[in-house]
Amino acid sequence: MFHAEITGWGKCVPPAVLSNQDLTTFMDTTDEWITSRTGIKERRICHCNFSDMAIVAAKQALAAADLDPKELDLILLGSLTNDSLCPNTASLVQDAIGATNAASLDINSACTGFLYGLHIGTNLIKTGAHKKVLVLGGEFISHYMNWTNRDVAVLFGDACGAVVIEQTDQEVGLLAAKIGCEADAKYAIQITNLGSAYSRFTEDFLYVDWNFEGQEVFKRAIRCMAQACADVLEETGLTVDDIKLVVPHQANKRILDALAKRVGLPPEKVFINVHKYGNTSAGTIPVALTEALEEDRVAPGDYVLIATFGAGLTWGAGLIRWGDRVKPLQVSTAELPPTDKTALEIIQPQIDKYKDRNQFSL
Ligand code: ACO
Repeated sequence: MFHAEITGWGKCVPPAVLSNQDLTTFMDTTDEWITSRTGIKERRICHCNFSDMAIVAAKQALAAADLDPKELDLILLGSLTNDSLCPNTASLVQDAIGATNAASLDINSACTGFLYGLHIGTNLIKTGAHKKVLVLGGEFISHYMNWTNRDVAVLFGDACGAVVIEQTDQEVGLLAAKIGCEADAKYAIQITNLGSAYSRFTEDFLYVDWNFEGQEVFKRAIRCMAQACADVLEETGLTVDDIKLVVPHQANKRILDALAKRVGLPPEKVFINVHKYGNTSAGTIPVALTEALEEDRVAPGDYVLIATFGAGLTWGAGLIRWGDRVKPLQVSTAELPPTDKTALEIIQPQIDKYKDRNQFSL
């Protein structure tokens, strides 16, 4: 029986920081509202392409595993904000890192894209079809933000994370996963004016927008993640006492607190970095996992629980048993191209466009 050990991990968070205070300069909101309702204090804004972040995260993960990219036989990239529909972004990553032997596939299940990818990659390794897989999750969500929609704009940020998984005989890696979708609530999170269902030849097409039923998503997120966690614990015969750390999707601190309570986990076992990055969608779990390792929150043999939900409404949980190594073998020097722009300067043209549109449509 094969397993798929996580041998490398990495992240890319862009340098430009957009604080809650920055948001108050052009939006009717307050630091107090955002902090108390979400736990978010700041988020990052990407100044280049999404693929640039993915490539940096990939290089970090490969260095941590000390793996020649030519040994990769599959790249799975979870995102809904790819550089283009065609070519797919996994192909751009393949080319940039020199993974010439890897099949390359984008996965769009929104925030759950990383867990969906990890589940698929792990099971392809378990069957023997693949041996070394790069799994990425990330988002350039600020690119599609309507900065005049305060219900949504305060919640998100940009980042990407990645892991390398490799075939092993040892019983480590993703031991169990439960993924699913409550499609009856598919329109509770909807990005409009983008995609082939919308006419390309109207003004609206320029103005991507969001339908967002925050409270509906909030309730379903807790219920679905809690059930998925219970399912993977049952499947592995483990209890919450066996879990060293939970690395959940970072959408809202209140959701994480409620999840911990429902699953019966003490808050200190829940890894939280939503205050620094907001919701980076498919990026939250690989970035948080990388930071948990950097902060020595994971030891060899630990059981780590991951739980996630997102548009669709997709959801899932996974139970990881960590392998022998918690330190990277190498460290990559890869980084994003520099920028001297502030986060506000980067998004200013978008803010202006949406404000113009709002005035025009009044
Ligand atoms: N600043 C100030 N006030 C605001 C803001 C803001 N940024 N946004 C909304 N408000 C106001 C609303 O207008 C409302 O005012 P009203 O009572 O006068 O009508 C009030 O605040 C309360 O709004 P609620 O929606 O009741 O606030 P709630 O406590 O439910 O929190 C939130 C909203 C943060 C969106 C929460 O519901 C949530 O986190 N939901 C989950 C969303 C999520 O995580 N989605 C992730 C998936 S995304 C993906 O997959 C791509």
